[in-house]
Amino acid sequence: MKFLSLTLVLFAIYRTVVAGSVDRGGACNVGNNRLQIGTFQFWSECNSVSFCSDAGICEAKRCRRDDFPFGYPQGSTSLPPKCERGQFCPDEGTDCQPVLPVGSPCQLNRDDQCEAPPNFKELVDDSGRGLNFNGSVCLNNVCMFANETFGNKCVVENTPYIAYGISGEFIDIVSRGNCQIGLYCDSSSLSCMKNKQLGDACGADKECDSWNCLSTGVCGVTAATPRHFGAYVYVLVALGIIGGMGGTLTGLYFAHRKQRDLERSKRAQYWREQNAFHQNLMQMRETARASILALPQNRGSRGMDYSQDPSDESQSPILQSTGPKASGLRNYLADDGSGEFDDSLMMHGRKEGRF
Ligand SMILES: *[C@@H]1O[C@H](CO)[C@@H](O)[C@H](O)[C@H]1NC(C)=O
Ligand SMILES: *[C@@H]1O[C@H](CO)[C@@H](O)[C@H](O)[C@H]1NC(C)=O
Repeated sequence: MKFLSLTLVLFAIYRTVVAGSVDRGGACNVGNNRLQIGTFQFWSECNSVSFCSDAGICEAKRCRRDDFPFGYPQGSTSLPPKCERGQFCPDEGTDCQPVLPVGSPCQLNRDDQCEAPPNFKELVDDSGRGLNFNGSVCLNNVCMFANETFGNKCVVENTPYIAYGISGEFIDIVSRGNCQIGLYCDSSSLSCMKNKQLGDACGADKECDSWNCLSTGVCGVTAATPRHFGAYVYVLVALGIIGGMGGTLTGLYFAHRKQRDLERSKRAQYWREQNAFHQNLMQMRETARASILALPQNRGSRGMDYSQDPSDESQSPILQSTGPKASGLRNYLADDGSGEFDDSLMMHGRKEGRF
């Protein structure tokens, strides 16, 4: 939830990051400079590469805070410079200024505009949570040190950001104080309290050492804690991968087997057709021979010719037309003398490569 709302806050910032529309050289009114509602982003009438000068004219920005400032083209060589250490660039982007001493006015969330305390090494927040910068904080637009100890009076600043969740807009209050690291500024008593440990009752993230007050009202583990999975998850994932591969292979095997069976039955059908064709031819030939032999008048030279010719004529066209691919027909030629054909004989002949 925390991460989600942070994302949405950032999204909201992105949506409204568009500055004013007045180009460089155009007229503007410094009085219209403001912080945007909800995001508290600085806004002026000038566009994102210029600021509104005291003279009421949009001028090119003269410093920047970001490595990749918004509004400039990628790889731009005309970026304003970043400020050196001990200086800061105000939100307007006017000029680098030296850091401000305690009690000076500063801009919202700009702890870096404030001078560090002498004992900054003890007070600095290195947790990455932005509790202070180099031991100093800007609260209610005043620079102070984050040096208050346990039980001391403290200053608190509550900023109600608008965040966007699944259920729509909600207010995300960010509460900051000037207590030392390990303490928080209690909003009701305005005194520094010790951070709460895991499982303690809490009312806000700032009260927890883990910076994560759960919706159940107790301090939970840090939101950034990585989730660890048991060994069974790895086993399940491995099984899933192996199962997926096995399933794919099995499926392909069955699909190909079906295709192979289809092809085989087609070939068998073709072979049966051819076989039947031969049988028919054989029968015709036998019938013709028998009928010729049954005619006594036709015996003699003419009869011999007559009995020879049909076989020659019947053989040659078959050889030509089916020579390249036929199987049984060649057997027919090879076994012409025997006149005995059945399936097994032809299969036998094919297998042994008699042709
Ligand atoms: C913190 O403050 C000290 C003292 O002013 C300064 O020397 C140092 O550069 C500062 N560190 C950062 C990161 O600005
Ligand atoms: C914190 O710093 C301020 C400003 O220098 C000082 O007035 C105050 O006494 C300090 N508080 C503690 C507890 O050191």
